[in-house]
Amino acid sequence: MKTFLNDACTLTPLTNDTLSQCQPFSCGDADLDDFFLNSADNYNRQLLGKSFCYRLNENPSIIVCAFTLANSSIDGRNLPNSRKKKLTENIPHEKHLAGFPATLIGRLGVNKDYGKRGIGTELLDFMKLWLTDLDNKTACRYLTVDAYNSEATRKYYESNGFKDLFSTEKQEKDYIGFPEEKELKTRLMYFDLIRLSPTNLSQSIAE
Ligand SMILES: CC(C)(COP(=O)(O)OP(=O)(O)OC[C@H]1O[C@@H](n2cnc3c(N)ncnc32)[C@H](O)[C@@H]1OP(=O)(O)O)[C@@H](O)C(=O)NCCC(=O)NCCS
Repeated sequence: MKTFLNDACTLTPLTNDTLSQCQPFSCGDADLDDFFLNSADNYNRQLLGKSFCYRLNENPSIIVCAFTLANSSIDGRNLPNSRKKKLTENIPHEKHLAGFPATLIGRLGVNKDYGKRGIGTELLDFMKLWLTDLDNKTACRYLTVDAYNSEATRKYYESNGFKDLFSTEKQEKDYIGFPEEKELKTRLMYFDLIRLSPTNLSQSIAE
């Protein structure tokens, strides 16, 4: 598929070595910038999160976007019934499953000089395909994120097919044991990868 990330960039692990070859990366959010610069390499070595970046082919010192992924799961046990039903429809024997396998987008940022031209969308498309690739060694049903509770970030995920795990902030606060009076800084969102799974696609073609 022809995209800017596929055609004009190269995916590499984001390590201290990579950072030493690159210009400072900024997505416009100080906490995320600080994570990629100062913590990503250690998270990687501690097996807590794997970080990657796309670098520009014509100038590899430029990081166009960066992200961190980690294994995770959605715990179905305490979800409100309506959400659980939505999440688990078509899952066989779901009563025997305590949690549903997921991959968490721990961090994600697009270089602010490259924003608002579809690169964030391309990046999510890439992750969705990566995780549903038949060569992926472990099963992953959902792509999840603790999205910043801001209009821009939520709109970004919503326009890329992500849904709120909880329909209200109150439900989410109850679920994570967060004080009612405090403002939620992030909202749990998910994308159901079954929509893209090659095994699912070939099965529905055969039926
Ligand atoms: C959020 C972010 C990843 C979006 O990247 P991007 O490359 O600009 O996103 P895209 O160009 O693919 O935009 C896709 C959609 O997201 C929404 N969107 C993106 N930026 C937006 C903004 N500032 N305000 C409102 N909606 C926005 C729009 O719906 C847009 O679709 P449209 O162009 O058809 O209107 C990027 O702005 C960023 O890195 N922000 C700082 C870090 C951050 O918030 N990361 C997420 C942490 S959970």
